[in-house]
Amino acid sequence: MWDTAVGNSYKTVIDVDLALCKNIVEFAPGKRFKTINAIRGTSFKGNLYVVDGDKEACEFVKRQYPSIVTSAKINVICDSLFSHSNKLPKEIDLFIANHPFDDMILYELAIRFNEKDIFSFNDENKISELWFKINDDKELQEEILDKIYDNWVTLFKKSNIKKLIICQYISNRYSAPHKDVADKITYKLFSKIKALTDSNNVKIGERLNRFKENSNEDIKVISPLLDCSAWIYGKVIL
Ligand SMILES: C[S@@+](CC[C@H](N)C(=O)[O-])C[C@H]1O[C@@H](n2cnc3c(N)ncnc32)[C@H](O)[C@@H]1O
Repeated sequence: MWDTAVGNSYKTVIDVDLALCKNIVEFAPGKRFKTINAIRGTSFKGNLYVVDGDKEACEFVKRQYPSIVTSAKINVICDSLFSHSNKLPKEIDLFIANHPFDDMILYELAIRFNEKDIFSFNDENKISELWFKINDDKELQEEILDKIYDNWVTLFKKSNIKKLIICQYISNRYSAPHKDVADKITYKLFSKIKALTDSNNVKIGERLNRFKENSNEDIKVISPLLDCSAWIYGKVIL
């Protein structure tokens, strides 16, 4: 229900003509159907690049997506978004991800502390441990956030992203002990990336109002996504 509600919010908020898109990138879906639900049932016929560094997530996408986006050509890239070998197109009509920045920080921490299977096993204790580590060690925090930020900048220089759509809502639905720490650190990265786009909160607010008016979703369930400041929606303007 939550995944469908998230997917529907993206579907309503996006005002890109998907029929005209040649290349869409979906980043870090994991083993969930969220942002892909925004493309489900549309007339998108181009190339869908799905990038996720977790093997199980990639297998999931390979198995499940062909019946969801039947007309698209699906390219699964099972690697870091920032790997030099990634063959992302130079022109990206739409780059879409849901709540990826906290996972990107975790992904870097997992590599640093040799916990590479952290997403496959979803070990909440290990995840908490990593968040408290980066919260307590400010030098490590700065280094990891700078690294991810620099990598985004490199990606933005390599590929022209016409529309970047990402919602990084506050994790107030979750009871994990690290949630406040994770939100606080993630927000630093999110706001720096948002500043590299022409995102406009007033415009995003208008789209969210449209969503509130037209949606059948339970507004309470979807409330974390209704905050315009949680969205990046715009062209990358580097
Ligand atoms: C928890 S999962 C799915 C989260 C999903 N976006 C959602 O909203 O539920 C996070 C995924 O992000 C992927 N990930 C994080 N950083 C990444 C990176 N730099 N490159 C590729 N995949 C990354 C992980 O492999 C993992 O499968």
